[in-house]
Amino acid sequence: MESINRLSQALQDRSATITVVGLGYVGLPLALGFAQQGFRVMGLDDDAPKIDRLMQGTDYINGQDAVVQASVSSGKFNPTRDINCMSHSDVIVICVPTPLTKNREPNISYVEGVAKRIGQLMKPGTLVVLESTTYPGTTEEVVLPLVLAGGRVTQVGRDFFLAFSPERVDPGNPSYHTYNTTKIVGGVTPTCTDLTAQLYQTLLERTDLVKKASSSRAAELEKLFENIFRSVNIALVNELALLCNEMSLNVWEILDLASTKPFGFMRFNPGPGIGGHCIPLDPFYLTWKAREFDFSTRFIELAGQLNAHMPHHVVDLIIQGLGSRGLVGANVLLLGMAYKKDVADHRESPSVRVLEILQHRQADVKYLDPMLPAVKIEGVMWRSVDPSEIAKADCCVLMTDHTEFDMDSILKQAKVLVDTRGWTQGRDLSGYACKVVCLGHGQKAAHPVVSLK
Ligand SMILES: NC(=O)c1ccc[n+]([C@@H]2O[C@H](COP(=O)([O-])OP(=O)(O)OC[C@H]3O[C@@H](n4cnc5c(N)ncnc54)[C@H](O)[C@@H]3O)[C@@H](O)[C@H]2O)c1
Repeated sequence: MESINRLSQALQDRSATITVVGLGYVGLPLALGFAQQGFRVMGLDDDAPKIDRLMQGTDYINGQDAVVQASVSSGKFNPTRDINCMSHSDVIVICVPTPLTKNREPNISYVEGVAKRIGQLMKPGTLVVLESTTYPGTTEEVVLPLVLAGGRVTQVGRDFFLAFSPERVDPGNPSYHTYNTTKIVGGVTPTCTDLTAQLYQTLLERTDLVKKASSSRAAELEKLFENIFRSVNIALVNELALLCNEMSLNVWEILDLASTKPFGFMRFNPGPGIGGHCIPLDPFYLTWKAREFDFSTRFIELAGQLNAHMPHHVVDLIIQGLGSRGLVGANVLLLGMAYKKDVADHRESPSVRVLEILQHRQADVKYLDPMLPAVKIEGVMWRSVDPSEIAKADCCVLMTDHTEFDMDSILKQAKVLVDTRGWTQGRDLSGYACKVVCLGHGQKAAHPVVSLK
């Protein structure tokens, strides 16, 4: 009871020290948020250049350098590689990666490594929160035993506290961010849930933006379901786009029409595939866990297959655009390497997959992306080319609809444009010489109707 009251008071009066482990897309904004709320925050990352950049006042995630500078100079935000900071922390939030292994199975080695060190270094009374996306059961089945094995605490909910609280950040979203998106918290015990709710209430714009789950497992599954929901719906609309292509119908028109229904319909757009650190990977976490229950997640796997096919379809559209020129030796320019609009992130980007397929098929491929001047793909450094390459390309491929791309200028210069984002739809293209091929807008001659009689 004493440790509960002490932590609760330290959260209330902002005297708690919070360590955020992993200063990436999730951890850095979170750490800065806690620092801005008046907590002393230790930002722990094992990537030395990241720590150096933060110490120099650079926000390498959201470009908010002034916030980093003010937080570092006030002593509220302390970027560090020294893991011993855990030993004098009241709260430790884990934001390390949860990738897949080569066999597409969960790789929770980063979480395990951190949990083990927490167990060895933490002081009694600490609240540990896992934010990394993972399968249901990780907090209780993996993190809890590793923390207990350190021997510094003995009973969860009494002399230390443990919870899962998923991050829901949507990079590039102008309306929703960490501080105004409802935060789910699920503790291993009810006390763990309550303390975690109290922690995030200090951060969010309104206290009712914190929603308690019945358990850490429920919170873990809820997070996976959010991402699977997106993956499945994107796959469904991608399938519709492929069908429209065959049927000489326009998927963008079908979506505009369906979107007029004010209830029971939520629009998802087709595209060249799915990317980012979450949507392509997270569904496999649930598929893997489901096997333990002799359960096959067929819908999820089918969605994965459909989405993985889309980069191949884009290459088919490029071949269609090139016509008799053919793909071998063709100068193909990918417009956009980022996995989505206005973000500087090419992790799991379909552009990378399209680039690889084009290279394999002997096209001369380049990319142009104002958000990503250089990217490393399979150990090779690629650099974004000059916009003058648009006019030189045999085919330009709009992969990412960045705001910075000027459609008029691209259409004026390009010989052929493959549009994978519906960018050209609903626009008058008659004044341009450019040949446009749009994903999901079937332009083949309609199939003849064959009588079976
Ligand atoms: N990126 C998103 O939009 C997003 C959204 C919701 C959830 N998530 C989840 O959040 C988690 C983190 O994702 P991210 O995008 O922030 O990853 P990231 O790769 O951007 O950042 C992770 C950071 O952890 C650091 N790190 C790794 N091992 C460490 C260790 N042992 N000690 C200290 N630091 C260590 C890395 O150096 C890196 O800076 C993942 O589970 C991801 O699925 C991500």
